[in-house]
Amino acid sequence: MTEIFFLSLIWVLLFFGPALAAIAIRRSLSIPWQIVLLIICLLYAALPILIGLGGVGLAKLYNCTTDINISFSLRTNLMKDPEIYPTELYLSPEKDELFEKGPWPKPFVFNEDVVNVFDNMISRSVPLYREVLACAAHWTKAYYQPGTKIIDIGCSTGTFLDLIGRFLQQPATLVGIDNSQPMLEKAKEKLLPIQQIHQVELICASAETCSFENSSVVIINYTLQFLPLQVRQKLLKSIYQGLVPGGLLFLSEKVKSSYPLFQETITRHYEAFKAYNGYAHTEIERKKEALENVLVPLTETQQLQMLKDSGFQQVDSLIKLHNFLSLVALK
Ligand SMILES: C[S@@+](CC[C@H](N)C(=O)[O-])C[C@H]1O[C@@H](n2cnc3c(N)ncnc32)[C@H](O)[C@@H]1O
Repeated sequence: MTEIFFLSLIWVLLFFGPALAAIAIRRSLSIPWQIVLLIICLLYAALPILIGLGGVGLAKLYNCTTDINISFSLRTNLMKDPEIYPTELYLSPEKDELFEKGPWPKPFVFNEDVVNVFDNMISRSVPLYREVLACAAHWTKAYYQPGTKIIDIGCSTGTFLDLIGRFLQQPATLVGIDNSQPMLEKAKEKLLPIQQIHQVELICASAETCSFENSSVVIINYTLQFLPLQVRQKLLKSIYQGLVPGGLLFLSEKVKSSYPLFQETITRHYEAFKAYNGYAHTEIERKKEALENVLVPLTETQQLQMLKDSGFQQVDSLIKLHNFLSLVALK
């Protein structure tokens, strides 16, 4: 329905100029009327540019940075195209200025204020966020076994579930687990379109209390790092037990280097990455302070060992940039 509406609109807009020209020719309008039609055509063509320039002017006036981006996309096309490289994420545009204005959450919690800007926060703070989610979607599609579940632990606003929901052609049961109710409220909204194809279950609970029975793919991106160490091991064991044979765990985490000098360089590089994404030095420092003792990273070696100790014997690293790592582990 939406597709038909937009396609009709495009045709109407495309024929607007020629239609005016045809009126001028067929009715043999007088020169003044032809000039009026010409002015209407020129204004019509210039309108998007004028609106864009007006926006840029306003942004400058209020000391903001801007970017003009005109795009047109139909969500339904993504569902139909099996070959698409799944990088288009649906992220809420609300800008993360949480640590600029205060009172910011300290210690860091996933409260309503964080949830409102979360999509913007994570996509500006996690290197290669889009690529990691696209990669997770590909691995999920490759290891999904019909009749089993795909579970996203720490699903937040449902960005990954939405992506895999559009990428996976066959109907599946997609489960999102998160212990933040405000996150799940956002996820519920985001996941409405894919529920035409898939069964979606959103569970508000701590992951360590959940069962992963009959799952063929479990995703846990940037979430294990928030759990106490002993709980992480317990959770990984429980995931291993719940996965069907041949099932896959896709894990992304913030990690630290085993070497203090390297860690120092990685941290500086990561901070430069955040500054490049528009965060001020004070925002970066305040968030770092708020995350202290809340997000406790392991080294890559410790993370791999924890997976092996949980039962996963086939473990590989896929992506690493700065202090963020993505791994896959097979049951
Ligand atoms: C950094 S976010 C995860 C981002 C998300 N996976 C993505 O890729 O967009 C961490 C999420 O884990 C949730 N969380 C933290 N501790 C949890 C726990 N013990 N059980 C379930 N969810 C948890 C938080 O509410 C938050 O939504």
